Amino acid sequence: TTETEHTLRTPIVAVLGHVDHGKTSLLDRIRGSAVTAGESGAITQHIGATAVPLDVISDIAGELVDPTDFDLPGLLFIDTPGHHSFSTLRSRGGALADIAILVVDVNDGFQPQTLEAIDILKRTQTPFIVAANKIDTVPGWNPNENQPVQQTMDAQSERVTSDLNEKLYELIGELSDNGFSADMYWRVQNFQANIGVVPVSAETGEGIPDLLTVMMGLSQRYMKEEMEIDASGPGVGTVLEVKDTQGFGTTLDAIIYDGTIHKDDTIVVGGLQGPIVTDVRALLRPRPLEEIRTEQQFEQVDAVAAADGVKIAAPDLDDAIAGAPIRVLRDRDRAEVIAEVEEELSEIEVTTQEEGVVVKADTLGSLEAISSTLEEEEIPIMRAEVGAVAPRDVRVAETANEPTHRAILAFSVDVLEDARHLAEQEDVTLFEDDVIYQLVEGYDDHVTEIQE
Ligand code: GTP
Ligand code: MG
Repeated sequence: TTETEHTLRTPIVAVLGHVDHGKTSLLDRIRGSAVTAGESGAITQHIGATAVPLDVISDIAGELVDPTDFDLPGLLFIDTPGHHSFSTLRSRGGALADIAILVVDVNDGFQPQTLEAIDILKRTQTPFIVAANKIDTVPGWNPNENQPVQQTMDAQSERVTSDLNEKLYELIGELSDNGFSADMYWRVQNFQANIGVVPVSAETGEGIPDLLTVMMGLSQRYMKEEMEIDASGPGVGTVLEVKDTQGFGTTLDAIIYDGTIHKDDTIVVGGLQGPIVTDVRALLRPRPLEEIRTEQQFEQVDAVAAADGVKIAAPDLDDAIAGAPIRVLRDRDRAEVIAEVEEELSEIEVTTQEEGVVVKADTLGSLEAISSTLEEEEIPIMRAEVGAVAPRDVRVAETANEPTHRAILAFSVDVLEDARHLAEQEDVTLFEDDVIYQLVEGYDDHVTEIQE
């Protein structure tokens, strides 16, 4: 007999925003480590997860957080590189993240990836707050390391305060243009109806106490019921990345959001050719306050309970797809679990037609996001798949009758050299971009050109 053990899991927080607006720096500041410094060109190479336990949050937030007010165990932050779509962060029926922080550079305002993030937050109905970052760059700013934001704002000159307020109200205006009512977080009563804006600086730590307080409070207030899980049940998760790990071959960076995965479990994972059934060889995990991607020496663990990031080593993972589901078999019926994974994979499948464009994307989530954008614009799709652009994709594209449909839209994937040559030969146009709406815009411009 299995005992059900109801526990509150850690809420999953996605950190999103335009390139260089400060996502990694913010998490870095929270972690107190120097991930940014070690990154090549200060660009986040991989998606990572950072668990911040409640006592650490309460240390950072000081008087703003009384740990006895909370029974959630902390927050699990997922960093997403700006050049990559965060739409990998999916789970059955929607977003993997329970809540999100949209990071916006106060000087730069809304940029293409900010809008892309907003679109996906809207579509998946994920509650979020806006971190208005880099407040320390307002000319004349007088930094007060790690202070709550209202305290440090009170310590600024009138001129600086009014400069900052002007920028903040521009952000609030942009949110309103995108259909969200927003205000400074301290004026927000109901975080479900209004978006709170938290001014912060990843550089000086100003406003970080507020940011953590708001995230913790929001989770506790609105998410608590959803956080109740049977922690001893068979694990369920999402693949963030499929990659080679020295000594372990192809591994999965995954987020487990329900139940537990054990090192001797059999798992079912979504793959390019359908579900993969395989036995876990090792579970590798970073310690709290560190990130999967910075960990050199992985620690082997016996089990990982939701919610947490874990690297899974197992045979036969070469075909696994980023964004695909992972389910632990344990004592469940094998055929039933395989059918569940199959069903989840088919939910993502895009409606294709006899005539239309070819779409290739890096993850299931981004494929889903692009396809829904194309659908909204009534652009038909003939084939939609995860993976690099290969000659056979060109062969499919050239069968289109409409000249405007002889096109391949490639999102964050490689184009094989022979596919590129073939496309030129066969008059198939290639569109490549890392931002969904720019990709679609590029295609739209091309269509207009043809029609003129
Ligand atoms: P991608 O992962 O490439 O999308 O970028 P990111 O959003 O993670 O930005 P990152 O944290 O790498 O920061 C980009 C640059 O902005 C770095 O040079 C940071 O040092 C700088 N930066 C980030 N936050 C702040 C801030 O609050 N103040 C100042 N002055 N600089 C900041
Ligand atoms: Mg980054």
